[in-house]
Amino acid sequence: MILLKNEVEIEKIRTASRYAMEILLYLKERIKEGVTGLDLERMTEERLKSLKNVTPAFKGYNGYPYCLCVSINEEIVHGMPEKRVIKEGDIVSLDFGAIYDGFYGDAALTIGVGEISDTAKRLISVTEKSLYMGINEARVGKRLYDISSAVQSCVEDAGFSVVRDFVGHGIGRSLHEEPQIPNFGKKGTGIRLKKGMVMAIEPMVNAGGSEVMIKENGWTAVSKDGSLSAHFEHTIAITENGPDILSRV
Ligand code: MF3
Ligand code: CO
Repeated sequence: MILLKNEVEIEKIRTASRYAMEILLYLKERIKEGVTGLDLERMTEERLKSLKNVTPAFKGYNGYPYCLCVSINEEIVHGMPEKRVIKEGDIVSLDFGAIYDGFYGDAALTIGVGEISDTAKRLISVTEKSLYMGINEARVGKRLYDISSAVQSCVEDAGFSVVRDFVGHGIGRSLHEEPQIPNFGKKGTGIRLKKGMVMAIEPMVNAGGSEVMIKENGWTAVSKDGSLSAHFEHTIAITENGPDILSRV
């Protein structure tokens, strides 16, 4: 069942989502060569302490032990913060969810560290662009897979692959609600989009093939061919005036 949200609920999700993005931008300022995933996790915890009424969404979710996901290079999503040292040329995807007054917000972005390869630059910009192409379809009267198809076309036109094993999702009083939002699909199909739907749209894009493997820690998804992967995510609401990006700061 898809739960529609009223304006009061949407404002709470906006607050949670902005906190999520603020934390990501705070980390973006601090990520550099020599920093580890565990350093970023610690910075997140410190930042959370100075914010009121916000709690991390991922810690404890299905047993996930950290506030933050840090996915480096061939890691796609659900990277566990580790002692692995981030180097110049790496691309790092950061994913963070926040809870405010019982409502969730979810956001992610990918950052290049220092000088990165041309492929890495293009992968990051295409993945971010595909997110906005998807968001642009999130309109009353359109269909769910119009979002999916817009993401997929943008990515495949650039010669990259969308990851099919993970999806975007409805969001509200839970981190993951219906519907699932794949990053591939057929335009003009799927449920009709309605005012009050709130969703986390999150393209995960591999520079090579779309196949995924899970690392031995049971969480971290990597590209099977070892190719670079990028991830961008916004929480959005569908309104009469089009998509409202709740995680925009
Ligand atoms: N943004 C991701 C998602 O929506 C992050 C989940 S990480 C987890 O699935 F640890 F909470 F699972
Ligand atoms: Co998400």
